[in-house]
Amino acid sequence: MSGADIKVSNLMKSFPVTSSASVDVLKGISFDVLAGESLAVTGPSGSGKSTLLQLLGAMEFPGDGEIIINGRDITRLDEAARADFRNREVGFIFQSHYLLPQLTALDNILVPTWNSRKDSDKHIERAHKRLKQVGLSKFGQRLPGQLSGGERQRVAVARALIMEPALILADEPAGALDRTNTESLMNLLLEINNFEKATLVLVTHSEFCAAAMQRKISIVDGKLERL
Ligand SMILES: Nc1ncnc2c1ncn2[C@@H]1O[C@H](COP(=O)(O)OP(=O)(O)O)[C@@H](O)[C@H]1O
Ligand SMILES: [Mg+2]
Repeated sequence: MSGADIKVSNLMKSFPVTSSASVDVLKGISFDVLAGESLAVTGPSGSGKSTLLQLLGAMEFPGDGEIIINGRDITRLDEAARADFRNREVGFIFQSHYLLPQLTALDNILVPTWNSRKDSDKHIERAHKRLKQVGLSKFGQRLPGQLSGGERQRVAVARALIMEPALILADEPAGALDRTNTESLMNLLLEINNFEKATLVLVTHSEFCAAAMQRKISIVDGKLERL
């Protein structure tokens, strides 16, 4: 795994609110993140943080601007290349874990590998390694309903890592966790950032989580606030 080098320039995004009106959410945002760096994204609720993460992960198209990741503008890839980018290069972690309730922890971790059926032995080995890394070696056969909130979120982290992504996008991943679980989740994300060199972009409301990142940007009213 090596990190994603990101150059965002003049990024804009609007959403239609009626047939004739739209709301400008991102109004020209520019910043860089070096490969292997960690960046906190803060700002008031509704300021466009999740929208920014969706653009970085090629889940949405911007209205204007560029997002160059490791030399390619991901806003200009075709649909197949975008899907491939999302699947192979990005690990998403959300506030809610979105685990499939009918699958065991191990099988949930394997979901991102479904697109590449070959090498299934390698993937199963990786899934066990990730389970161990998140401290859940013994819980691989449990269903999400048989795990605590903190454990479920750690399974979601393992799932985000199974494809060894260059970029980890985390949207308030500790938003529903208590202090102890927040600390262990943050330690885990930092370990992956430090030792596997994945670039980490973390949206957070928490000063504690933001302070653990190397750099911080803040979005206010659709623009970057100078910090
Ligand atoms: N798909 C959408 N359609 C219309 N408006 C949206 C959509 N997604 C987000 N918005 C609006 O964009 C603004 C920013 O949302 P969001 O990026 O989720 O903010 P944050 O994550 O900072 O709380 C909000 O006003 C929200 O209502
Ligand atoms: Mg949000």
